[in-house]
Amino acid sequence: MKTKALFTVPLLVSLLFTTGLSQTQLPKETDSQKAERMKWWTDARFGMFIHWGLYALPARHEWVKNAERMTNEQYQKYFEMFNPDMWDPHEWAKMAKAAGMKYVVLTAKHHEGFCMFDSKFTDYKATNTPYGKDIVKEYVEAFRAEGLKVGFYYSLLDWHHPDYTIDSNHPLRQISDSAYARLNKGRDMTKYREYIKNQVRELLTNYGEISIIWFDFSFPGKHGKGHDDWDSENLLQMARSLQPGIIVDDRLDLDNLEEGWDFTTPEQVQVVKWPEVNGKRVPWETCQTFSGSWGYYRDEYTWKSPAQLLELLIESVSKGGNLLLNVGPTARGVFDSRAQDRLKAIGDWMKFNNRSIYGCTEAPEGITAPVNTLLTYNPVAKRLYIHLLAYPLGSLTLSNIGDKVKYIQFLNDASEIRYRPSDESKNDLILSLPVQKPQVEIPVLEVFLK
Ligand code: GLC
Repeated sequence: MKTKALFTVPLLVSLLFTTGLSQTQLPKETDSQKAERMKWWTDARFGMFIHWGLYALPARHEWVKNAERMTNEQYQKYFEMFNPDMWDPHEWAKMAKAAGMKYVVLTAKHHEGFCMFDSKFTDYKATNTPYGKDIVKEYVEAFRAEGLKVGFYYSLLDWHHPDYTIDSNHPLRQISDSAYARLNKGRDMTKYREYIKNQVRELLTNYGEISIIWFDFSFPGKHGKGHDDWDSENLLQMARSLQPGIIVDDRLDLDNLEEGWDFTTPEQVQVVKWPEVNGKRVPWETCQTFSGSWGYYRDEYTWKSPAQLLELLIESVSKGGNLLLNVGPTARGVFDSRAQDRLKAIGDWMKFNNRSIYGCTEAPEGITAPVNTLLTYNPVAKRLYIHLLAYPLGSLTLSNIGDKVKYIQFLNDASEIRYRPSDESKNDLILSLPVQKPQVEIPVLEVFLK
């Protein structure tokens, strides 16, 4: 007797969907597995962000298309003019390395939708501009050759794609629901979701080992977009399966999933303390610009000084975090002189002081920073680093540490710093410092602990 099939194929498929069997299973890890996967990154502490795209031509912020509410047609001239004739990615990579940066993240696609790589899924890409070459490929090869870990920034927003629906962050944003409905008729986010996946697959397949992917960004709510719009879980799962070691930021709108992100990304702010989620300290990286804009902005003048930038780096490490410092190259393909000067100044400091950055973290509990100083600590070497933001006059007191100290020196020249217990407490040390500040932007004391 023939038995009747219990389920037809379409029924099975729909059952799989409704029972959740089709749901994404993001790889789970223990805290120590995650820490191990991210170790190179937490040790590195310092990376370079590069915002480069068509917006380098108008040179007035990477959101220019949005700010000036330009249509695709109005923006098209930048595509037609894109030709960074002076670009030498090896030069960029050398500057990043000399500044002490250990990894790099380039905008493979920013919100404008222009692709710096030779994607099969769009014509809106570098290879179709007068420049004619795959920028991502050249970038990856050059930075890798200098020993930096390579990453991509990929914008979830897309102000060019015909299926991307107009939302509150779009250049063509509207006021009324009916206007949104009218403009979005015929736009199909299902197709756009496929497009993102196809492109991320290309980026994570065609360019060798990719260490970081920076998805940007989500803004859930009315006329906004969040994880359902991007299909974040499946996108992330795909990224992790293509590059198992990859480190991922937290802007896919998967904050409530422990496995939905690797690090938090406080942007253009200094955190007050090591960020925590559910009472647990989490890996974090602050991204910062030299001035107010990510993309090259010719007429923007709020550039931070080398000392301020170094302070940002040291401060991040002093709270257990990383700094991703951005360069917005020009449309000729160079870092402008303001950026070069700052990278050089950072490099001059890092050359002699990077021991207080790499592999370092927050100082152990109970050790307090004297006024105008920032502390970092290398737990493996058991060395405490005291960064003197304002150079003291002749002496510095370290409280409550006398029983722990073995030796103290300046980091930049390994010259001994002599010290004695204070009259009030044997456990407080008075360090005697030379009157003249050492010839480094921010002097560092290296304290060897027992
Ligand atoms: C924001 C901006 C963007 C920039 C990014 C860097 O999300 O939209 O222009 O790329 O921050 O973190």
